[in-house]
Amino acid sequence: MLGCKPPLGEISLEHFMRAHWQRRPLLVRNAFPGFRSPVPPQRLFDLAVQDDVESRLVSSARGRWALRHGPFEAGELPLPARRDWTLLVQGVDLHLDEIHSLLGRFRFVADARLDDLMISYAVDGGGVGAHVDSYDVFLLQAHGSRRWRIGWPRSSELLADVPMKILARFEPTEEYVLEAGDMLYLPPGWAHEGTALGECMTFSVGFRAPSRHELLGAWFAECADSPPSGPDPRYSDRGTGPTRTPGRLPEPMHAVLAKWLLEWRPAPQEIARFMGRFLTEPKPNVWFQAPRRRTSPAGFSARALRSGLRVDRRSRLAYRRRDFFINGEHVPMTGKSAPLLRRLADERSLPPDALRGTSVDPELIACLRGWFDAGWIRFGPP
Ligand code: SIN
Ligand code: CO
Repeated sequence: MLGCKPPLGEISLEHFMRAHWQRRPLLVRNAFPGFRSPVPPQRLFDLAVQDDVESRLVSSARGRWALRHGPFEAGELPLPARRDWTLLVQGVDLHLDEIHSLLGRFRFVADARLDDLMISYAVDGGGVGAHVDSYDVFLLQAHGSRRWRIGWPRSSELLADVPMKILARFEPTEEYVLEAGDMLYLPPGWAHEGTALGECMTFSVGFRAPSRHELLGAWFAECADSPPSGPDPRYSDRGTGPTRTPGRLPEPMHAVLAKWLLEWRPAPQEIARFMGRFLTEPKPNVWFQAPRRRTSPAGFSARALRSGLRVDRRSRLAYRRRDFFINGEHVPMTGKSAPLLRRLADERSLPPDALRGTSVDPELIACLRGWFDAGWIRFGPP
């Protein structure tokens, strides 16, 4: 996966990252030469029926926008002969290996930034209206043609009484028709509107970036849930005289509580652990399948040495120094095991020869076996 050629056509990766990433849109004609969608529309409709798959149906018949959330009953989706509807299926990379492996072409950006690959299927005239996303996105045309109109928004005003966020005034400055294999990169904040020209499919590779509010929300929720790590003093007003103004907040009480808040400094180690867990937390609808049969430690080592290991497509695995994080869990690693686990995180697989000689390292084998039993990693090949 790592080392795959970035799908940027003639543009160098360095130029893209310097001049376009988070700055300016980029149209790449023939980013994926001869591209054919590995997912036929029917496969997408089948996913939209599953209750562990996030899906939406948007229609705009006679100018009236309608939004419904999946899962949908079999046969509930409109017929392709009808106009102006789109089915959007989120996180297809979590469900299909062939879609997950496409993401390898985008690993020039850290996994911690990757959100998911969404697929939209639209019939003629279908689209979700002019809108702004807060994420970077690569819009890969997978089948048929779609017209994209884009522009920097002049106003953030939204249409009233519409179940989605659609810009009330959109003044596009550029327009492109994308054919299968073409790709459009959009940084966050750019207004865009895609309209299907006949039946089409678009793959959106989206990148997430937490806002400060989201990060603090998660941090304080975790702090509130975990027992205090040190002493937990409680406010005391021992020695205070009687009050004649019982409605007033006592000034000494305010001062002591304010001091606790202002002086509250988590240790850097606590922050580092939280951050890794936060950034590798799977989405709420992600479930892992444990292997049907448990393996003994010796059986696990023997099979891993024979076939190698690979990270399950649903797993989020990351590291910082000697700290490893997988699916919201923290795993500290000592000396000799760390380089191998870093390789597993970077390449998402370990060939058998990388594991030879490690069968003697019980800490590593116990850790990998635990991940295997949880369904987070699997036996190879990649
Ligand atoms: C779509 O594929 O129809 C919408 C994708 C987007 O605008 O982000
Ligand atoms: Co969008």
